[in-house]
Amino acid sequence: MSWLTDALKSSLGRKLVMALTGLFLVLFLVGHVLGNLLLFVDDGGQAFNEYARFMSTTPAIQVLSLLTYVSIIVHVFYSILLSRHNRQTRPVPYAVNDASANSLWPSRNMGILGTIVLIFLVIHLKSFWYEMKFGEIPMVNYDGVGEFKDLYSIVAEAFTQWWYVAIYVVAMFGLAFHLSHGFKSAFQTLGLSHKKYTPLIEAVGLWFAIIVPALFALIPLVMFIQSLA
Ligand code: HEM
Repeated sequence: MSWLTDALKSSLGRKLVMALTGLFLVLFLVGHVLGNLLLFVDDGGQAFNEYARFMSTTPAIQVLSLLTYVSIIVHVFYSILLSRHNRQTRPVPYAVNDASANSLWPSRNMGILGTIVLIFLVIHLKSFWYEMKFGEIPMVNYDGVGEFKDLYSIVAEAFTQWWYVAIYVVAMFGLAFHLSHGFKSAFQTLGLSHKKYTPLIEAVGLWFAIIVPALFALIPLVMFIQSLA
């Protein structure tokens, strides 16, 4: 097994771990944003609450959840290792180095952007995930279907507060820029560079980085506006 520990200590091995966990989290985001769109079903939250119960009680989904938590922790941990390694191996800035001419802004600020997403995650998980797992969620009864934890009311209540909505919108800009570099960079690390396919991967990455965070930002914004009516 020493080859594995050696590989995980190498710079390329660490980048591979970042790429694989990052791409897994990209898949998580697709599922999460689609599930959250159920908040827009005009049925008093029934579809969303049924979905939340399905997600938290289905064994296969629980395994995926566990993989998500592990991926987040490993992705953050390896990003710290890699940036420490990069600082140590290049302690003196190049004398002639116009960083802004050599690379795009998101690629030079992945650490800051990742930190914004991480702070958002702590706030987000405390509000919903922690409440669902360990808090006291009110129950709601739907005729003929049964009793459910009313997670919908917790989410709807949270999005009546403008400052809470603002946190989501600002954080989604951070997520968008983080993804705009991370998506294509993961494919590069995996060695999937190809004259024909790389432009396609870059285009898909860019659109993904725009559409998914925009939807995540739109949900609290629309729910906030609805709460004013
Ligand atoms: C409109 C925006 C969002 C809403 C309404 C929302 C809603 C929720 C809710 C209700 C839960 C708790 C589900 C449960 O425990 O059954 C949850 C969990 C979670 N959310 Fe979000 N979310 C949003 C955006 C995001 C974003 C942008 C990220 C990541 C950057 C994220 C990451 C997570 C994670 C990692 C979990 C835990 C998942 C699990 O236990 O499997 N969420 N979210």
